Amino acid sequence: MEIDPGPIDEVLATTRAVRRRLDLDRPVEREVLEDCLRLAQQAPTAAYREDWHFVVATDATTRAALGELWRKSARAYLARRPHAAAGALLPGTRPLVRSVAHLVRHIGEAPVHVIPCIEGRTDGKPAPAQASRWGTIAPAAWSFMLAARARGLGSVWTTFHLRYEREAAELLGIPYDDVMQAALIPVAYTVGKDFRPARRKPLDTMAHWERW
Ligand SMILES: Cc1cc2nc3c(=O)[nH]c(=O)nc-3n(C[C@H](O)[C@H](O)[C@H](O)COP(=O)(O)O)c2cc1C
Repeated sequence: MEIDPGPIDEVLATTRAVRRRLDLDRPVEREVLEDCLRLAQQAPTAAYREDWHFVVATDATTRAALGELWRKSARAYLARRPHAAAGALLPGTRPLVRSVAHLVRHIGEAPVHVIPCIEGRTDGKPAPAQASRWGTIAPAAWSFMLAARARGLGSVWTTFHLRYEREAAELLGIPYDDVMQAALIPVAYTVGKDFRPARRKPLDTMAHWERW
């Protein structure tokens, strides 16, 4: 089958961090999430071992509790940003900080929280072990986010709650000693569908042909 790169390129270029345009009132169908998760399963594995897991939280009480953990950490992040520290967002606050501040208020209301996990803790392990674990879960989770975007869903990769990973594990019944959480991805239909590619540096600042 010939693949038309057009729509694929569009999804790759416009799957952005969505916080302010998450539709908090529209539920997300389980079948749609399952389709995205099936596509995530097509991501590469390190050695045929499918040791990834996705915890999908839709229960309002669970999301509220996860949101509390996320918020605690996000507030510490905002407190380090002078414009946001006062609680009010002053003129000049960077769009990223505004966007985070919005999600701080609404994280628990995002209709779905997806927590990608990987078997095997790497705390204190050498780089190759780290690379194998994170390199297995990150592509799968990103595939999930791309598939979600293709279905009108927005998401954002977040790591704030990992400061309280143990508490989140307890909440979700994740066996903390054997399984690492990689992120908390709020998912919702987007308000509007137009998303633009990010502005990035010229390619030659990051592409190194033959040698660095
Ligand atoms: C590894 C990683 C961790 C992130 N952690 C958080 C987070 O904890 N909270 C959050 O709101 N966004 C988080 N983000 C989203 C970035 O802040 C977001 O991508 C940012 O808006 C930069 O925009 P860009 O994706 O267009 O480059 C994370 C993104 C990545 C890749």
